[in-house]
Amino acid sequence: MSSLVYVLNGPNLNMIGTREPEIYGYTTLKDVENECKALGAELGLAVDFRQSNHEGLLVDWVQEARTKAAGIIFNPAAYTHYSIAIMDALKSCSCPILEVHISNVHQREEFRHLSYVSKVATGVMAGFGTHGYSLAMRHMAFLLKDKK
Ligand code: DQA
Repeated sequence: MSSLVYVLNGPNLNMIGTREPEIYGYTTLKDVENECKALGAELGLAVDFRQSNHEGLLVDWVQEARTKAAGIIFNPAAYTHYSIAIMDALKSCSCPILEVHISNVHQREEFRHLSYVSKVATGVMAGFGTHGYSLAMRHMAFLLKDKK
């Protein structure tokens, strides 16, 4: 049986592909979803891929993942830098949490250097473009391999 991985995406990530392409590239979130699902099929991971612009809904999904998911891959976008609510929700999860950022947030504005999510994440990927999601999927499969 496949392990279920939630791939959650925060605000404005529905716009990648056209939003600031010099930073986020030309790949759309639908392309990312398709890649994660295809890779998941290879790796034995079922993928529940979601995006929301609303902090509370992301908190609800993390709470849901707490009982349903074997792992969480999460790009919380701007909420990364100030959402204590998302950090608290993640703290209640015992599964691996991989934080993904398309851009290298450490090379950007000072306010992007702080991540509340990194304080509770198992690992962090930043600056690999949308390929970071595939890298996170592979690492999640590695982390879950003995748990099936
Ligand atoms: C982002 C980086 C955040 O600082 C920003 O607010 C985003 C996207 C990234 O994937 O590089 O919306 O999480």
